[in-house]
Amino acid sequence: MDIMDDRSVRIDLSRADFLPFSLPTIGDEEIAEVVDTLRSGWVTSGPKVERFEEAFAEYVGCSHAIAVNSCTAGLHIALSALGIGAGDEVIIPTLTFCSTANVVVHLNARPVLVDVGEDFNVTPEAIEAAITSRTKAILPVHYGGQACDLEAIYELADRHEMAVVEDAAHAVGSKYRGMKVGGSVLHPSRARRVAVFSFYATKNMTTGEGGMIVTEDGELAERMRLLSLHGMSRDSWKRYTAQGSWYYEVVAAGYKDNMTDIQAAIGIQQLKKLDRFIALRQEYARLYDQAFAGVEAVQIPIRHPDRDHIYHLYVLRLCLEQLSIDRAQFVAALRERKIGTSVHFIPVHLHPYYREQFGYRAGDLPSAEAIYQRIVSLPLYPRMSVADVDYVFKAVEHVIGMNKGKRS
Ligand SMILES: Cc1ncc(COP(=O)(O)O)c(C=O)c1O
Repeated sequence: MDIMDDRSVRIDLSRADFLPFSLPTIGDEEIAEVVDTLRSGWVTSGPKVERFEEAFAEYVGCSHAIAVNSCTAGLHIALSALGIGAGDEVIIPTLTFCSTANVVVHLNARPVLVDVGEDFNVTPEAIEAAITSRTKAILPVHYGGQACDLEAIYELADRHEMAVVEDAAHAVGSKYRGMKVGGSVLHPSRARRVAVFSFYATKNMTTGEGGMIVTEDGELAERMRLLSLHGMSRDSWKRYTAQGSWYYEVVAAGYKDNMTDIQAAIGIQQLKKLDRFIALRQEYARLYDQAFAGVEAVQIPIRHPDRDHIYHLYVLRLCLEQLSIDRAQFVAALRERKIGTSVHFIPVHLHPYYREQFGYRAGDLPSAEAIYQRIVSLPLYPRMSVADVDYVFKAVEHVIGMNKGKRS
């Protein structure tokens, strides 16, 4: 089914109805593939997961792809396979979802939260300033679907002998200097390198819940595959039994993080549509950019010319010094006009757990904190129509126009 048809079906987005912040684009192809899986009698990890992994590796241009049940699980597996543990430090931008840092805590290592730049991505300077003799890995986040400065990050990783685990939750299909995030040709680095993608419901492609780990390192890939399913060695049964699929050996205390064939069935079909989904997001982002460029008191996202931003998020910045309302009131005003929005993210170091456990305080990472006060993520997804994009723009323009002037 064509995406253009898809946008017009099932949910009426006229302004009598609420325009949600995000909606997945699920067509007849995904439904048929899931039904086929259900009818096949094989619903957990099996042939469809294998097909999905192969197709994904080809799309990204990488040597190894391991499907898991979330990006969070993939990040956890990657760090665990790299041997990150007690006493180790991992550098993470604070402007991210909590799971990026939580997985480090799960391994008894220390998440070292650092500041971000005006493009919302971690800066090489912030990373460099946080490196100690205990730093084992950098965990950069490609915020909103625009790649970090990978050249500089890998240069640092090489110089300080650190591994890099890219949190590519937002970045499936995103490019850095023409090369796909997670792809084999991305950077000629000596660092041990992994990237992990998310297929959560709001992402540019979805499997409901799901994730994919990619790497060029065959040994690491084998270890990560092992850890994704209880640490059960398949090679053992290949080695020790002629016919016995019942035999396995547990060679590590692994996790239960495998993807099911039901999820993979959705992923196989979503992947085929991904480039069209991205093209529509980029087109809508361009329309937003064009429209908001003429509105005072808002700032459009920064885009680097050497990166292909895939606009998982479209994040507007409010110039609060020119407004009589704060961000919470702005969000409420859009909600009254039937528009759903979100905020990405509350900086991790401001959450109670991270303050109490690691001693972070407000003021520690000023750039991320200032950004956080002013950001709003607007609806942007293929099922929106051009009229929806226009409605959001007009609503924002109206709310801004009604609330010009300093807060008393
Ligand atoms: C930056 C970032 N990292 C990691 C994750 C975790 O992804 P998942 O929900 O697939 O575990 C998310 C989820 O939204 C995210 O935004």
